[in-house]
Amino acid sequence: MLISFEGIDGSGKSTQIDKVKTYLTDKGYDVHVFREPGGTPLSEQIRDILLKSRDEIHPLAESLLFSAARAQLVATRIRPLLDAGAIVILDRFFDSTTAYQGYGRKAIPVKDIEQLNTLSTQNLKPDLTIYLKLDPLQASKRRKKVRVEDRMERAGVEFFKRVSEGFDQLALREERMVALDSSKSPDVTFRSIIEHLEKKLPLL
Ligand code: TYD
Repeated sequence: MLISFEGIDGSGKSTQIDKVKTYLTDKGYDVHVFREPGGTPLSEQIRDILLKSRDEIHPLAESLLFSAARAQLVATRIRPLLDAGAIVILDRFFDSTTAYQGYGRKAIPVKDIEQLNTLSTQNLKPDLTIYLKLDPLQASKRRKKVRVEDRMERAGVEFFKRVSEGFDQLALREERMVALDSSKSPDVTFRSIIEHLEKKLPLL
């Protein structure tokens, strides 16, 4: 089973992913977590370019780099684990490319990004996507409290509003995607995630 978590930076994904991993592991599932971009040595190198580069990265090049990191992760790690019956949890997947590079950067039509996503994943789709929804201003405040912003996060609040709008649009058209209010306490959000997850869990 493949579960992805999505949302703008600062929406609380990491906290919830840790909790879900513990919950599923305690139940006896074989659980693996990967972050995107990342999760393989090559994909982590690409991550460094994407988040730390001081050079301008053209939006098309940016989309292709995220996709290259993803292609490597899907082919070498995710597919084999799914074939072996594991549960794979992803801290972001191709919906982030649609929302950030498609809706956020606006330089490439969303339908082209979606074709790229199909190619980079070889048509692999999550069984469940948890979209943690948070107001962009609130998310920016949460972020600034805990860390120095990276190259993507420095894009500004107008960019994050467009990214949010992108995730909202995706949640409307993708049945696998569940939008949950992430402004509540982490425990309240966690309980809603578990409600949705329980409906889809495979038998042990
Ligand atoms: P990361 O520090 O992992 O952010 P977060 O903890 O919020 O997930 O950085 C990943 C950044 O890359 C984040 O700003 C979102 C962005 N991103 C894209 O723009 N496109 C993508 O396809 C992916 C996977 C991430």
